[in-house]
Order: sequence, then structure tokens, then C-alpha cells
Amino acid sequence: MDEIAVQTLLTKYATPLYLFDGETLQQRVSYLRSKLPDGVGLCYAIKANPFLAGYLSPLVERLELCSPGEYRICAEQGLPLSQFVVSGVYKTPEFIQEILPHSPAIFTVESMEQFHLIHRTAQDSGSPVSLLLRLTSGNQFGLEKDEITDILTQHQNDPLLHFKGIQYFSGTQKTSVKRLTRELSTVDEFLQTLEQLLGYPMEELEFGPGFPVSYYAEDEFPEDEYLEQFAQLLQTMTFSGTITLELGRSLAAHCGTYFTRVVDAKCNHKQNYAIVDGGMHQLVYYGQSMAMKLPPIRHYTHHSPGNVEPWNICGSLCTINDILVKQLPLPSLHVGDVLAFERTGAYCMTEGISLFLSRDLPAVLYRHPDGQMDELRPHFETYHLNTPNQKK
Ligand SMILES: Cc1ncc(COP(=O)(O)O)c(C=O)c1O
Repeated sequence: MDEIAVQTLLTKYATPLYLFDGETLQQRVSYLRSKLPDGVGLCYAIKANPFLAGYLSPLVERLELCSPGEYRICAEQGLPLSQFVVSGVYKTPEFIQEILPHSPAIFTVESMEQFHLIHRTAQDSGSPVSLLLRLTSGNQFGLEKDEITDILTQHQNDPLLHFKGIQYFSGTQKTSVKRLTRELSTVDEFLQTLEQLLGYPMEELEFGPGFPVSYYAEDEFPEDEYLEQFAQLLQTMTFSGTITLELGRSLAAHCGTYFTRVVDAKCNHKQNYAIVDGGMHQLVYYGQSMAMKLPPIRHYTHHSPGNVEPWNICGSLCTINDILVKQLPLPSLHVGDVLAFERTGAYCMTEGISLFLSRDLPAVLYRHPDGQMDELRPHFETYHLNTPNQKK
């Protein structure tokens, strides 16, 4: 978006504000596809940014939903149920009973308990269900290998259960190709074991590679090379079924910008401080590293540039932790200027402590590639959520 378009936007909408850019989003999908072998599918993990589910649905094969809320976000927009992978470590019986009957959605299985619950629901409703069995990577998620083999040997002929394959996700921001090599080879070997056991191959592997996003100058990595190496790993696998990659931040992060305005500026003990109307409750990159590193930021001002000075950019929460950037060099900064934090399309708007201090939630906008703007959420007052129902 050019400078004039941004200034126009900022006269129309109050800050803080999230803007998601459709052109960047589409380019990101095309870029990832261009780096992956033909036939590899994409599954968007909507937890990264639920506002993008409807825009990404036509561009990807699947949508991964991890809670009843995420399911409703997609179902209420009329997104195709056949794209849904109903995932998540906690699936309530009510939720499974509500959506399983006659639903083409795929369910992941995270535990024996969950398997029995899904199986019972399928039996009670007489509805067939497609399953991806999640292989654990050694944490609270997924099943052990022998639990998966037990389920398959005992139930492979059940007409209600369609075992599609394995799901695997072990973490995010994985910059190590070595680690991905190890993980893919473990999963590949296990899929071979299952083929020998069943006498036929599993149809599918849904794999979350946790592709990294570089949020800070010092975290830049050669993404082309990284993805090319990953593509080679996929091509050397013995498994010949369909591979779908579950991705969140790598799809969504680049398209987002968070705009926040300087509302106060001062110098305390020889340090420049700018207070902005946003803060750490609305801007979370990865880990708690805000203030320690320098994210990509643009500065919008109507003033002529002055001397470059270091600024500490602080949010509007009552905590000394609410520092967005330390010692940001800027050619003068004034009350009313706007700072635009880039790569904020994933997790930023949902991982913050957004109810602290009862500040309003920012508006959310989506800009189509032709420039048309969708207002996805207006500014939203949160103080209602922190007010007791019964007045004294
Ligand atoms: C099961 C599963 N799949 C995919 C993702 C997306 O991860 P990322 O945003 O690193 O691509 C997550 C994130 O937590 C997840 O839990």
C-alpha cells in the first residue's frame, strides 16, 4: 500500500488498527506453492488468524479448526464443511455429537479417550467419520505409536470409521532443517510400519512443519533455500500418499500491519519515551521478545524530518513491561505520528492480554487486491466483559 493510501486509511479509521492485505496473502500462498512439490496440499490452521479463514478457504485445500469457536467462525460464514479438519486436544462430547452426524469434516484423534468418544458418537448416530490419528511428538498432544497400531488393528474393518492417515505437528518457528529431516523420517518410517501392518498404505499425512517467519532483522533466514531443502525432503520420502501441510503463521503473518498512534512523548532521565495508543496486549510476535529486538516498522508523520534520536516505544497498559521497542532510531517523533508494525498477520491479535485495563479492541480491516476494503470488526469495547452483571 502506498503512503497516500495509508494516510487516507488513517484519516478514516481510528488507531489502533489491524489491516490484512489480500494481495500479500495471495502472493504468499502462490510463493509457498511454487516452492513445494506438485500435489502437496495446504491446510490453514485458522488459530493463526481467524479473520483470514474465509479469504484463504478458496486458496487452500483444508482448514484446521481447534475449538467449537473456530468451527463456528467457519461454519457461520458458510465455508465448505468438506474442507474442515476438526482438531484440538479437547473436544467435548456435545461438540462432537453436534457436528459429527452427516458431516464430511475430518476429525483428528488426540487420545484413546477421544477415539472412543468419536467412535461411540459415530455408532450412536450411524454416521461414518473420517479420522486422522495424531502421532505424539512427546508432549500432551497425540497418541503413542502403539496406541495408533492398536486402534488400527482393532478397528480397521469398522464400516463407520475411515482411517485416512496420520497427523503430526511438533512446534512452531522451526528454523532447523535437520530437525524437520528427523521428524519426517520418523513419520515416514512409522507410515511404512503401518502399511506392513494393514497390508495397504495410509492415504494421507497431514504434517505441520512449523515454518518460521522472521519477525526481526536479526532473525532473517534464507527462506528460498530453506523451502527448497524441505521440498527435497518430501520428495525423498517412501510414503506415496497425499501430503498436506498444516500452516498458520507462514501463510498469515506477512499480510498483517498493526497501526498505532503516538499519544504522548516525553524525556525521563535522558531517555525518550513515546506512549502509543496500542500496546503489548494487541501486538505479540513470537515469544516474549518485544522490546529486545527490532521488528519491521514504518513511521507516518506530517512533520519534516529532524535529528535521528532513539525512542522507547511504550504501549498504553499500566505495566513497565509494555514496551514495544527500545531505542528505535527515528528522525524525530511527534504526538499524532503513526507507527505501522509489519508481519502482524498471525497470532498478534489473539495472543495478547487483550482484556487487561479494559481497553477497546482494535478495528480489523481486510484490503482486497483491487483496493476494496472490508471492515471485519469495528472497534470493540471490552469494558462490558470486565463489568459484573449485577450492579451493587
Ligand atoms: C496442530 C497444529 N497445526 C498447525 C499449527 C500451525 O502452526 P504454525 O503457525 O507454526 O504454522 C498449530 C499451531 O499451534 C497446531 O497446533
